[in-house]
Amino acid sequence: MEIVIVESPAKGAELVADAICRLVGTKPEAVLGLATGSTPEPVYQELAERRRRGEVDFSSIRGFPLDEYLGLDPGHPASYHAVIRDQVVLPLGLSDHQVAGLDGMADDSEAACADYESQIRQAGGVDLQLLGIGSDGHIGFNEPGSSLGSRTRIKTLTAQTRRDNARFFGGDEEAVPRHCLTQGVGTISEARHLVLMAWGAGKAEALAACAEGPVTAMVPATALQLHRHATVVVDRPAAKRLRLREYYESVYESKPAWQGI
Ligand code: PGA
Repeated sequence: MEIVIVESPAKGAELVADAICRLVGTKPEAVLGLATGSTPEPVYQELAERRRRGEVDFSSIRGFPLDEYLGLDPGHPASYHAVIRDQVVLPLGLSDHQVAGLDGMADDSEAACADYESQIRQAGGVDLQLLGIGSDGHIGFNEPGSSLGSRTRIKTLTAQTRRDNARFFGGDEEAVPRHCLTQGVGTISEARHLVLMAWGAGKAEALAACAEGPVTAMVPATALQLHRHATVVVDRPAAKRLRLREYYESVYESKPAWQGI
């Protein structure tokens, strides 16, 4: 696992956007795994800027969001369908068919999850998966206790996640759905490159457990320790609980710039 400590989320977003643009430059039909929440927003903004400047062409990429609330209308502004449309599809000039999505309104959720897995497989798998981390250590919506081998399925959100996400529902925790559909930890782990980002002191504890704690289903983000190409990009407040912080900084400082992440 490579840990890169950056000065600000904006600097981190530049670094992650560099990796995405390099990927899309060499593989125009690259498959991106799309996270939602506050964490990836600066990356999407940076990518949209670069597209506006004509530096990158996303017209052949594919995208697969990580998760969706169960039973939330896709027209609801907090649905991940709406978030991905507003933050990714429209700003990057994508057409709807380029981005799949989990159907939180499907009559048969299990079948929708199995179908999503086969769509990812048919697209050739995810090349680069963007990830945030929940304050409870989740990735996607894989809450503590999720099997590290889990596949796309229904999950029940923890009280902590519902509290954390109430800000997207006008501050009303009760309005946050109790269930979701999420790619499993095993599904996520099949992506060829995992890029997890964390900004702010509120993520420091979860991030330290993810990077330096024992691998455990109680912290699903620890699955990154088993991945052959996992990059963690964090700002200083999120990095403050890392024991080997200075080592990670020295490793990155002496890395040749051409190497990227
Ligand atoms: P956030 O959520 O990006 O809104 O902090 C991250 C997550 O829950 O995975």
